[in-house]
Amino acid sequence: MTSSADSIASLEQRAEQSIGEGVNWAVHAAGDAYKATKSLVPLPEEYRDAALVGAALVVGAVAGKPLLSRVLAGSEAAVVKAEGVHIVPLTRENLPRAVAAAKEGFSYGGPFLSPAKDFKASLDPLLNARRLSMDPKVEANARYWLAVDKKGNVLGTTGLYETGKDQAEAAWMGWMSVRPAYRGQGIGKMLVDFSKEQAAADGKQFLRLYTSNARGEAAAQVLYEKEGLRIVGSEPHTIPRFLQILGGEKKPLQIVFREVDLRPRKIPGIPSGPSGA
Ligand SMILES: CC(C)(COP(=O)(O)OP(=O)(O)OC[C@H]1O[C@@H](n2cnc3c(N)ncnc32)[C@H](O)[C@@H]1OP(=O)(O)O)[C@@H](O)C(=O)NCCC(=O)NCCS
Repeated sequence: MTSSADSIASLEQRAEQSIGEGVNWAVHAAGDAYKATKSLVPLPEEYRDAALVGAALVVGAVAGKPLLSRVLAGSEAAVVKAEGVHIVPLTRENLPRAVAAAKEGFSYGGPFLSPAKDFKASLDPLLNARRLSMDPKVEANARYWLAVDKKGNVLGTTGLYETGKDQAEAAWMGWMSVRPAYRGQGIGKMLVDFSKEQAAADGKQFLRLYTSNARGEAAAQVLYEKEGLRIVGSEPHTIPRFLQILGGEKKPLQIVFREVDLRPRKIPGIPSGPSGA
């Protein structure tokens, strides 16, 4: 049984995580404002950057405040328990609830990490397939699924898509998250397990994804390691370093690529073909 001290510690931990997510969101907002105004203001380089960073931070802080209140309010519901969770496909009917759940799951990215466009596009067969046609890096053929409870509440989301460069061998996992109030109950693991099984059933040899070493995605790295998704590459993140520092990221942010081999492993001593009796 959970003691009240444990509950308080858990709430405090989640509040701390939520503050981190709010700050992270503000940094994204500031970055966007910075990029949007950089080309418009005719100041010498050294003054312009300083002035714009200041302005961008104000925008980020103001815009980030309501989000911070929202995620902190969400922490109060941390004691809610998920029961009878199962996985269903994204449909037009559950789309609004799916978008709301994923926005909550990715609240550390605010409006700049928004799943709505990808979720909607995945339900439009023409649009979904067309996105792959020209550019090998473009993502397409996406499908999304939701972890729902008995009442149909959406608790988490996951998805699989293809890219032009490795379409034949790999599925990529995307928009995998669990709403903060439902974390720590095995739903994330359920979503990753499902994604692996679905990719294998689709005939893919690898499940791949990209993530980052940002604080908001730290829990995911532990989950990925446990699920056998090993790091296979990384590259510098596109968020400017000074904004990373302002957001509390001590180490330079990296985009991190992970993959797991889905092919059945050969067990030493057991022949893989039919027995020659
Ligand atoms: C990552 C995330 C999906 C995990 O969801 P979850 O439902 O809490 O995960 P689970 O309860 O299934 O935990 C599975 C394992 O992950 C690890 N884990 C989960 N949360 C953790 C945390 N806060 N700190 C350390 N490890 C954690 C644990 O090893 C756990 O196994 P255990 O319970 O046996 O110790 C969730 O934290 C989330 O939505 N994060 C924000 C979105 C995100 O980062 N998505 C990925 C973007 S690349």
